[in-house]
Amino acid sequence: MESFAGRLAVVTGGGTGMGRELVVQLAAEGASVATCDLNADTMAETVRLAEKEAPAGRRITTHECDVSVESEVERFRDEVVAQHETDHINLLFNNAGIAGGGSFITGPRAVWDQTFAVCWGGVYNCSRAFVPLLVASDQGYVVNTSSVNGFWASLGAGMPHTAYSAAKFAVKGFTEALIEDFRVNAPHVKAAVVMPGHIGTDIVLNSRRLLLGADPADMSDEQLDTIKADMARRGMPVEQLSAGDLRQIIQMMGESFRDNAPLSAAQAATIILDGVRAGKWRILVGDDAHFLDEAVRANPEGAYDHRTGGPALSTITGG
Ligand SMILES: NC(=O)c1ccc[n+]([C@@H]2O[C@H](COP(=O)([O-])OP(=O)(O)OC[C@H]3O[C@@H](n4cnc5c(N)ncnc54)[C@H](O)[C@@H]3O)[C@@H](O)[C@H]2O)c1
Repeated sequence: MESFAGRLAVVTGGGTGMGRELVVQLAAEGASVATCDLNADTMAETVRLAEKEAPAGRRITTHECDVSVESEVERFRDEVVAQHETDHINLLFNNAGIAGGGSFITGPRAVWDQTFAVCWGGVYNCSRAFVPLLVASDQGYVVNTSSVNGFWASLGAGMPHTAYSAAKFAVKGFTEALIEDFRVNAPHVKAAVVMPGHIGTDIVLNSRRLLLGADPADMSDEQLDTIKADMARRGMPVEQLSAGDLRQIIQMMGESFRDNAPLSAAQAATIILDGVRAGKWRILVGDDAHFLDEAVRANPEGAYDHRTGGPALSTITGG
């Protein structure tokens, strides 16, 4: 798809981060956009930013929707059809995601299940709801955001990352399989999988808030104890820390993930949209993503052997 002008795009998770920047940049290029998120306030800010850039005549609509709940996604789809007065869409960006569900062995099952339900279930539900509208268009593209954790299921030594990685591998496998399905059954539709490395967004803070229901300042003693135990398992010297110290450190870790990334969310969105314009099916975002991709392919057996210098994302990103 060489141009987005006059096209209709659906973007999930458009309240912050890469989703917001996709909405802003698509609107600037003359697309109409329907975006969903859990948070109406952050979506309103996205619309304010996008409308500054959008040429006249483009519509940007917002829809409160939890992508992990199929009935909410179906309502979102029905709202898009009604509000944009359309029987098709051209672009579907399955971007919404949260990070969590580290350990399958010691972590709470509810957190594991919710992470998987958003990161994989969200892509599945939105594809079920919106792919028929892509097929109904003259030209369509589904763009599914996986991660480097969609081909390397680790954050490095001592940091299990099971739910997120399982979901992101599922997103990558599903998208790759869709390529042939579209080629056979809907050749005017394409699929792309996006695999970002470390991008400067609030995903760490947003995910903790969504999974625990609290910002660091409001976390219960029990929640702080769980996080403290996790930090101790990673070898961090947390024994002497007070609850106040811990709250500050948790907040700082989230901010540091956002502020010390090699790429911003806006830069990432530009790389994603350039990839779509070029007709790519695999879009790696960032030098760290390219490095990891090459490292895992060069030595797959060594990918998880941290003693011999397996590709440690944490050493590349500080994350
Ligand atoms: N930031 C990174 O380093 C990075 C790296 C690789 C992949 N990713 C992936 O990129 C995508 C975007 O992440 P981001 O970094 O911009 O994070 P972000 O937290 O800034 O944005 C994610 C958005 O999704 C929304 N969201 C979360 N759960 C939702 C749900 N159930 N229904 C609807 N909306 C929901 C959040 O409210 C938020 O606005 C995610 O899929 C993430 O896994 C991010």
